[in-house]
Amino acid sequence: MATAIIIALLAITHSGIAHYTKFPEGFTFGVATASHQIEGAWNVSGKSENVWDRLTHSRPWMIADGTNGDIACDSYNKYQEDVDHLAYLGVDFYRFSLSWARILPTGRVDHVNPDGIRYYNALLDALAEKNIEPLVTLFHWDLPQSLQDLGGWANPKMIDYFRDYSDVCFREFGDRIKSWITINEPYEICEDAYGDDKKAPAIDSHGVGNYLCSDNLLKAHAEVYHLYNDTYRPQQNGRIMISINSIWYEPSDPEDAEQVALAEVANQFKFGWFAHPIFTEEGGYPAVMVENVAQQSQAEGLPKSRLEQFDDYWIERIKGTSDFLGINHYTTHLVTGPGVDPIAKSPSWLKDIGAVTTMNVGGDSASEWLRVVPTGFANLLRWCKSSYNDAPIYITENGFSDRGDLDDYGRIQYLNDYLSALLHVIYEDDVKVLGYTLWTLMDNFEWRAGFSERFGLYYVDITDPERLRTPKLSADYYKQLIAARELPEDDRFKNPAHIDRSEL
Ligand SMILES: *[C@@H]1O[C@H](CO)[C@@H](O)[C@H](O)[C@H]1NC(C)=O
Ligand SMILES: *[C@@H]1O[C@H](CO)[C@@H](O)[C@H](O)[C@H]1NC(C)=O
Repeated sequence: MATAIIIALLAITHSGIAHYTKFPEGFTFGVATASHQIEGAWNVSGKSENVWDRLTHSRPWMIADGTNGDIACDSYNKYQEDVDHLAYLGVDFYRFSLSWARILPTGRVDHVNPDGIRYYNALLDALAEKNIEPLVTLFHWDLPQSLQDLGGWANPKMIDYFRDYSDVCFREFGDRIKSWITINEPYEICEDAYGDDKKAPAIDSHGVGNYLCSDNLLKAHAEVYHLYNDTYRPQQNGRIMISINSIWYEPSDPEDAEQVALAEVANQFKFGWFAHPIFTEEGGYPAVMVENVAQQSQAEGLPKSRLEQFDDYWIERIKGTSDFLGINHYTTHLVTGPGVDPIAKSPSWLKDIGAVTTMNVGGDSASEWLRVVPTGFANLLRWCKSSYNDAPIYITENGFSDRGDLDDYGRIQYLNDYLSALLHVIYEDDVKVLGYTLWTLMDNFEWRAGFSERFGLYYVDITDPERLRTPKLSADYYKQLIAARELPEDDRFKNPAHIDRSEL
């Protein structure tokens, strides 16, 4: 009896969410990867050490399964096979990133590594052969260690270094690349790598390094935008954006006004930290962030705030420097009330928010942080539309982790439900979403999770020297979706366990 009622409710919910199935005219689909997560070849052909090489070699215990990016998926050697898989999927575009340390081994422009240029030229040519558009990320976390030794993103000199590196990339590859991403997930860089030890270089300067990083990173992003806009766009005619990641926060009790207000504060600290300076008329950091950090700093007896505000020059220089709003989205967490989150260090970004959060929401995945909450995706997109002046959006990452199942019904269900939510806001709320990027083409080196959390459409056997790639069921699901521009309804994509139960 109880079982029957639960099944009936699920059916209603499911058909309610799946109302829209067809994507609008011109909507494009792709998959994403990142250099350090797939390329391998870490110490050959002139590439130098990056911060992830350093972390994984010097502190291997920090990686869940002790793996590293030395070989990863060996895409440095197997790029042609990867491109064949992309062609099989039928994607419109392929999002990948350039390895700074492969192109500029010292991090600076004193020496351009010919083999780095050759590798990316070969990849671009292989993509062109199959009519797959490149969407290229300039920086996806693998900073040359030589620049980290000078302070990395905490050093204001990074503004010049990133601009100089980007100049080389625009010059060498810009004739074939029409879509660029400057920086992937600034929050993860500044908070997780400088304000914590969750990502390389694991500086853990909580409450301090994170804000030094955002100051330099936003300026560096803006300089690269202007370089492209002023110098390269007139000839190359491309587009350039930043990819900002969310964990979307919702109140655990939507009727509780205090929780609702705190969820907004948390979203400003998380997404607004990087989006507000670029995508609002006002510019600069969100007001609530400036206030909270100033108050906390005062309470700590500091002479000035740990978060420095941009001056008028930089507010103007940073504003408007992204042609689209690139959103990486996976999950939603909850805000339960005011106070200091029990896991917050002191001082820290999390303590500065002044809210207690929980991940106890939605279905689970192989990643502790990744809860399945499709309605949160819809709410994030509505919020972005109203907060950022209806900016045109690309979803530059979205995906689901498991332990490497070939019949990956969990991933298919996730994609189906998140894409239904996406269609809903496109049609019902007129949110301008132009394209969708699935993370990821194949299982790869998932940072500190190593290969223990797998997000790929292709399974990668890392015990096989050939790094054999095997398509999962989700590869066929995505292929069919792209071919029809419609969510597949095929029974073979439905979890047989579910079908069995509904037939009882
Ligand atoms: C490159 O790294 C591998 C370990 O991944 C090591 O076995 C090899 O000796 C290194 N090669 C060079 C040239 O340093
Ligand atoms: C980009 O360049 C165009 C053409 O010169 C200019 O009108 C526009 O203001 C520039 N964008 C930004 C954000 O500076």
